[in-house]
Formats: sequence, structure tokens, C-alpha cells
Amino acid sequence: MKGKRENWGSSFGFILAAAGSAVGLGNIWKFPYIAGENGGAAFIVVYLISILLIGIPIFISELIIGRKSQLNVVGAYKKLSNNNPFWSIVGYMGIFTAFVILSYYNVVAGWSIGYFFEGLKGTFNDFTTVELASNYFGNQTSSTFWIISWQLIFVALSVYVVFSGVRKGIEKYSKLLMPILLIILIFLAVWGSSLKGGSAGLAFLFKPNWGSINGKVILIALGHAFFTLSLGMGAIITYGSYFSKDDNILTSALWVVFLDTFIAIVAGIAIFTSVFSMGFNPADGPGLIFNILPTVFNKMPGGNIFGILFFLLLSIAALTSAVSLLEVITSYFVDNKNYSRHRVVIISAFITFLVGIPSAMSFGLLKDYQIFQKSFFDIMDFLSANILLPGGGLLIAIFIGWKYGYKKSLDALESGSNEWFKSNIFFAFLGKKVPAKKLSIGNVWFIFIRFIAPVLITLVFLKSIGII
Ligand code: PHE
Repeated sequence: MKGKRENWGSSFGFILAAAGSAVGLGNIWKFPYIAGENGGAAFIVVYLISILLIGIPIFISELIIGRKSQLNVVGAYKKLSNNNPFWSIVGYMGIFTAFVILSYYNVVAGWSIGYFFEGLKGTFNDFTTVELASNYFGNQTSSTFWIISWQLIFVALSVYVVFSGVRKGIEKYSKLLMPILLIILIFLAVWGSSLKGGSAGLAFLFKPNWGSINGKVILIALGHAFFTLSLGMGAIITYGSYFSKDDNILTSALWVVFLDTFIAIVAGIAIFTSVFSMGFNPADGPGLIFNILPTVFNKMPGGNIFGILFFLLLSIAALTSAVSLLEVITSYFVDNKNYSRHRVVIISAFITFLVGIPSAMSFGLLKDYQIFQKSFFDIMDFLSANILLPGGGLLIAIFIGWKYGYKKSLDALESGSNEWFKSNIFFAFLGKKVPAKKLSIGNVWFIFIRFIAPVLITLVFLKSIGII
């Protein structure tokens, strides 16, 4: 690409945009339903450990790769590895993963816009029980016309946002809407906790039953840590490429991870207090929030307006995430092939729409076509979240820890950092500057990325297929 690469308006702009990518259907739709299917609190503990030990170090690494190269995911690996063909393939794998995720992400986002319109039509007024709500959801999602129309509308909206470019499109929308979404979720969590029987939901979320943990559950929790933070396929590399050398990588990463995790937990409280107060099944699957929340809105004073606002904001949260996935694809073709931005966005978005059609129909016409008891939708989800993203994360850790190496990585991380970055890690958090070579934050991060993260990811893979 010619000329200077567009930068974020400020570190704050980046934090909001990256949080816009991270916070999406993963937090509000997927996290509750997989936590519900995999035993609740114990699953959540594994997920939080994965975020802490693996997610944060990899988030930092992706930002380093992006900022250092100032390029798209393929170009970034090529440049930092001196054109090593293996690492270029890792870059292409990221683009492939973006297509896989978008194909079914668009579908669920379509449900959300569809439910925004159901709210406007007043449909939630009829949902006096969860059974009525879930019958309705079942009917809608099995209607090919309903599903594909909303999916297409969502794809068109994401094309529109990516058209406007990085700053105007992505940053602007994230800034405005994220805080409103958070306020609504907090309100729903407080409301749910005040319901009769809501405390059983809190116990489900916070009192671990370790018996529910096995290799598969651990893999799903790890995969979700990647999915929810947008890690492992280059979204954060691409956003990091719009970072300037004065931006602080470490604090930006910590902010995004904190916001994303906080929002998931609040969403979990909102959903499970309601699930348990209505005596519903937490392992309800992908329809969970669409069955539960409209019933909650039905019973809440002014709930209709709340419901409309909720699905509107959920759709927008999904949009800012979908846009970051589309941006991974777009920036590659724009940087490398000199295609016009508009053409690339339209063509790639249309391909994700086409590839997503079988996922869209997995709840209706294609319901009975299953491989290993998984529908097309489930396969896309499993392949991307539980294989491609952790696999991509493993490769990123190996790249930074073993190929790019200590000296260059640390220099890259240090640029734009605070003074306390180099001081002893224990004192740094107390705000004191005590120089200590060995236990600096950078060194501890590097130990995580070189040893701990790759070993843990490998162990989880081996455990999930029963080798250990
Ligand atoms: N993090 C997004 C979410 O939670 C999904 C996503 C995954 C976005 C991977 C970009 C890359 O909804």
C-alpha cells in the first residue's frame, strides 16, 4: 500500500475498536450457552485461566506483530520472518479462518437483527412462558426465507461499515455504542438477581462442580478464550497494524481483555439468574438467549422497549466483530493485490454469505444432515473456535517466542510503554519504579509466550483427543 498507513485516532480509539471486535456474539450469545452446556462454574474457571495464562500473552504478541509490520496478516508474517514460506501459510490460515467464522457468525447476527424487528412488532408480548418463546424461535430459525433474508441484511450492513474505512467506520461506531450495551447488561443482571430463584443461577455460575471437567470441556473453554478475544487468526494483528509506535501495547491489551471478560460475566449473570428463576434448562443450546430473554422482557415493566434496545445493540456488537473479521480479509487483498477496497469487501462478504447458507439452514431444512452428530453449523463453529483459533494461537506463540525472538519482541513491546514497564513486576503494580532486570513485565511476558502458552495449548489438544 502506498503512503502512510491510517492510524487509530488515539490509544483510546484502538481500545474501543479492539473491544468492539472482541465483544460480540461470543460474549452474549455463545458464552452463556456453552457455559450452560458444559457445567457452569468449573467451565468458567478453566475459561478464565485460559484468558490469563494464554489469552493475554497472545493478545500482546498479535499487537506486536501488527504494529511492527504495519501490514495485513499474510504480509506481517512474511515481513517479520524474512519471507519464510511456512509463516506465510500461517497468515493464509488466518484468512481462511476469517471466512469460516464469518459464515456462521453472520447467521446468528441475522437472528439478532430479526429479533430486533420481532421486538418492534410486539411479538414478545405473547411470550408468557419460555416454551412459547422457544417454539417461536424454532419456527423462525427453521424458515429458510426468514433466516437467509436477515443473514443477507447483516452481511450488507457489515459491507457498509468496512466501506467507510478504519477510523470513520470502525472507531466511530464502537465509541458510541459499547457503553450503552454494557449499561443494559448490568441492568439485566441486577434485574435477574432480584428474581425469585435467581440465586440458583448465581450458584450455577460461581460454585464449581469439578466433576463436569474433561478434555473436551477444557478444549471448548480454551477455544472460547480465543474466540471471545478475537485471537488466533490475525484480527488483532490487523488492528495492531493501525497502531502507532507511541501507543502502549501492554495497557491497551489489558483493557480490552478486562472489558471483554467483564461483559461476558455480566451477560452470564443476566441469563442464568433468569434461566433458573423460570426453572428452565441451562443446557438449551444455541437458542438459549433467544428463548430466555424475550420471556424476561415480557414480564418486565417497559420490557418491550428494553427488548428492542437489547437486540439492536447485540446486532451492533455483532457488527463491530464481523467488521474486524472482514477487515482481515480486506486488508490482505488491498495491501497485496492492489484491488480496490470496495470491490474486495463486496466480493469477500458475498462469499461468506454463500458459504454460510448451509449453516443458516442447519436449524431447518438441513437439520437431519449431520456428520458425527454435528450439523453444518456446529462443524463450522467447532472447526474454527476449537481447532483453527487455538492452533493459530500456538503458532503465534512459537513465532514470537522462538522465531522472532527475545530482543526484537521486547524492543517492539517497549515502544510506547510507561516507565514502570521495565521495573520489577511486583513493585510495578504498586506504582513504584524499582529497576530489576530479571522480573520485569516484559521478561515475564516472554516466559509465558515462549514456554507456558505453547505447552498448555499442546497439552489441551492432546487431552481433548484422549492421548493424555
Ligand atoms: N470476538 C468476537 C466475539 O466474541 C468474535 C471474533 C472471533 C471476532 C475472531 C474476530 C475474530 O463475538
